[in-house]
Amino acid sequence: MDTSKVLGVDVGGSGIKAAIIDTKTGELLSERLRVNTPKPSKPEAMATALQELVAMHQWKKGLVGVGFPAIVSQGVAHSAANIDDAWIGTSIEKVFGDAINCPIVALNDADAAGIAEMRFGVGKGKRGTVMLLTIGTGIGSALFTDGKLVSNSELGHIRMFGESAERYVSDSARKRDDLNWDEFGQRFNEYLLYVQRVFFPDLVILGGGISKKFDKYQQHFTAKFPVVPATFRNKAGAIGAAMYAKEIWEAK
Ligand code: BGC
Repeated sequence: MDTSKVLGVDVGGSGIKAAIIDTKTGELLSERLRVNTPKPSKPEAMATALQELVAMHQWKKGLVGVGFPAIVSQGVAHSAANIDDAWIGTSIEKVFGDAINCPIVALNDADAAGIAEMRFGVGKGKRGTVMLLTIGTGIGSALFTDGKLVSNSELGHIRMFGESAERYVSDSARKRDDLNWDEFGQRFNEYLLYVQRVFFPDLVILGGGISKKFDKYQQHFTAKFPVVPATFRNKAGAIGAAMYAKEIWEAK
């Protein structure tokens, strides 16, 4: 199996994106193509959507890395906050692998994005506890200690006001409650202060589409650790998924 190029897939609540990644440099060797996430997002429907994406890339039999928006352990989904409940207990690697006839390695989507940032982005060479938080439909987290991933950290689900924090501070919460950037910044700061109580990261990297607007809300942050925007934003998931797939495949 040639792992110098891997198809990196980023599964999200609204879209599934894929690009061919050069696993030496982390660079995109193709356009990042997208199909809509089917509604409801049941496994069979998602597998059909992935088939379409794989055909668009003319990807045949090569390794595929999938970042998936759930707890992922040994290729199996164990939660479903923003996707269909039918995924719980389902092997992402088997369902997707059977559909596209390619070997698949799956991991949590935020963990994938974190790997890209630590390898090639703003987290490169950073020691201590580094955390990537992706703000989108939900809040994803990736936790690193001296560059090593501690998988499935799920910090979007710490409790705030009796609910998962992501119900209060995600990008979908911002849109739902029609928050301006100041209001969003203040809410996100409350969240960061919660994080500070349980962890004391040396660095927090903010990812997801909203990291582009970082300068509009960062002035509200009062936590003691530095918070910086991600380097790759919406490409990080596909890059990190491909990198991870290569490593797991080669270690087999
Ligand atoms: C899920 C995480 C995921 C995050 C971002 C959360 O609701 O629980 O597993 O990483 O959304 O997609």
